[in-house]
Amino acid sequence: MRSLAVCLVLALPLAAHAQDDDLGVQARKALETHCYRCHGKDGSSKGRFGYVLDVKKMAESKKIVAKKAAESRIYARLIDPDDPMPPEDVKARPSRAEIEIIRKWIEAGATDFAEPDDLPEIKRKPVTLRETFQLMHDHLLAAEQTDSAKYQRFFTLTHLHNNPKVTDPQMRLYRAGLAKILNSLSWRKAIVYPTPLDVQGTILAIDLRDLDWDLNGNWLKVIGAAPDIKGKLPPLTVEPHKGYPYALTHERNPDDAKLNALAKQVYRLAGTEVPALRADWFIAAASLPPLYHELLNLPEYVGDLEQQLKVNVAYNFLRDKLVRAGFGKSNVSSQNRLVERHDATFGMYWKSYDFKGDDGRAVLVRFPLGPLNLFPATRHPYQDQAFVHDGGEMIWALPNGLHAYMLTNGNGKRIDSGPAEVVRDEKETAGRGPAIFNGLSCMACHKHGMIELPRDDIRGALQGKVRDKVRRLYPEKKFMDRLLEDDERDYLTAVDRVIAPYLRVGADKKKDIKQFPEVVSALATPYLKGGVDLDQAALELGLEPAELKAAIKVNGTLRDLLGLRVLSSGGQLKRQTWESVREVYSPFQDAAVELQLGTPVRLRRLLAD
Ligand code: HEC
Ligand code: HEC
Repeated sequence: MRSLAVCLVLALPLAAHAQDDDLGVQARKALETHCYRCHGKDGSSKGRFGYVLDVKKMAESKKIVAKKAAESRIYARLIDPDDPMPPEDVKARPSRAEIEIIRKWIEAGATDFAEPDDLPEIKRKPVTLRETFQLMHDHLLAAEQTDSAKYQRFFTLTHLHNNPKVTDPQMRLYRAGLAKILNSLSWRKAIVYPTPLDVQGTILAIDLRDLDWDLNGNWLKVIGAAPDIKGKLPPLTVEPHKGYPYALTHERNPDDAKLNALAKQVYRLAGTEVPALRADWFIAAASLPPLYHELLNLPEYVGDLEQQLKVNVAYNFLRDKLVRAGFGKSNVSSQNRLVERHDATFGMYWKSYDFKGDDGRAVLVRFPLGPLNLFPATRHPYQDQAFVHDGGEMIWALPNGLHAYMLTNGNGKRIDSGPAEVVRDEKETAGRGPAIFNGLSCMACHKHGMIELPRDDIRGALQGKVRDKVRRLYPEKKFMDRLLEDDERDYLTAVDRVIAPYLRVGADKKKDIKQFPEVVSALATPYLKGGVDLDQAALELGLEPAELKAAIKVNGTLRDLLGLRVLSSGGQLKRQTWESVREVYSPFQDAAVELQLGTPVRLRRLLAD
């Protein structure tokens, strides 16, 4: 609970921290503090009006009369000795200063409050590397009291916070995105809210135990270190994840003894040289294979997943405890497509059957009772009506209500990306062409969880003795739609719980959950497709842009070997280049070495080969 409380404080409109002399901002804050909970949160009820933060409506109903405080109902009741607002039994009273602010704001014309997005820019205080280490150090030291320092890990947003081009709403989005991806990689019921260590919310802590990440070596998988725990990690099927490309240690800084000492303590207490990750990198890396699979501990075959979720597809097929819809025209696949839903331990389990071709046993109207490989050879009870599919896409509810995804070939073996001839992602969410990549691509398209299905073409298609079976498995569209709606609602409820502390601020408090962006892809896609300019590169390294520019000018390694020349002429380096690991280090790490800004942690392959 503690972490949530801290988040809520942070999520208040930023004006809360500022000594801002903008009257509107302050008046809004006073009304929000003292009136909103009865006059706004749940709309009007019990004879109360419900729009204290809506200036237009307040003016229309004479709650405010511009320039005339005495005639304004809200001010009149504020100072009414016999019938005050808030009601007498409310202990927390508006201060004299707050009442005065409201008066002045009305007298000044009661201009509309700024939307949170255009609240006056508040000068952020940059956070230095040394402060970052100090905060982590203090947090770890406190955790050490209960022997839990070794479970503490951190995510940093300092390199974004320190960049004036990154807006405050964007900063909130990063926190929400981090919370969503972490909870999307958890098999526990409780939602985990990363705890900010500073009031500006630039360094966030988690306890690995809250995600069970200590049990399965997940942090080691992320940083790319060889596991030092017993037990086998799942085998890697494709290009292994090479590790965290921004890993630097800071205990050998030539001219900051204080930083060196703090860093040493931090590594010792946390038990790792890489206790902190950049949140923007993590959101992108962890939402794509191989990390997405490794952190979720996804099995290699869908059959094993189904066992884990207590779904027996063959048995459900026999006893008519699954529902299906098949359609000739899918909105994502160029072939016909079949989707089915099962009940599972944590809620629902949806699965699609996808096809490469459109002939033979890929034609669903003729072969709706597959898949043929659902039963051992020749044992399928509807052998002659069983389709043969080429791929599958699975979505299921995690214990906390968020969704997880898996993509397989026709044999149920997990794959990283779907062949483009089966399904396509024209928006290229993963930044790697139109193929659908498991995790990120699914999240982006399925931003509200479920997607409405086209009309089923199968239910009425077959005659003869299998007709009844087909009708039992392929229900009316109405029935399917209701299931989809229920599942969508459950998902959105969970998403709301995760993002609310960060994004439900100011005017967005009452916004429909569907109007918020899908936070993971809203951050990961631009990150993966984007670049790094001089300012951002400098901030990531821990320099002023001018310092980096000067260094590039005189240092041939930076300029030519690492290709940073482009930065000093106002260009951008591709993000993927900046963090690509060619041999053991990334260009970022090589640049840090060159500039004596840290010692790279060697990136080992996950399973030492
Ligand atoms: C604990 C709940 C609560 C809080 C907090 C509260 N109110 Fe009220 N308010 C009520 C209730 C209930 C009524 C209706 C009964 C009444 O008029 O006394 C009401 C009525 C009013 C009315 C009369 C409606 C009208 O059309 O004239 C005004 C104005 C008002 N409140 C202003 C405020 C202001 C301003 C604040 C904050 C400084 C505030 N209230 C805080 C519960 C609350
Ligand atoms: C380009 C957008 C897009 C992407 C990416 C995408 N889907 Fe879908 N998905 C759809 C559409 C559209 C439907 C509705 C059925 C149809 O038209 O094929 C759907 C339906 C589904 C269904 C049936 C339940 C429902 O919501 O209707 C499942 C299961 C599914 N997709 C799984 C996945 C998985 C797993 C991934 C990632 C590997 C994924 N999808 C990626 C567009 C997408």
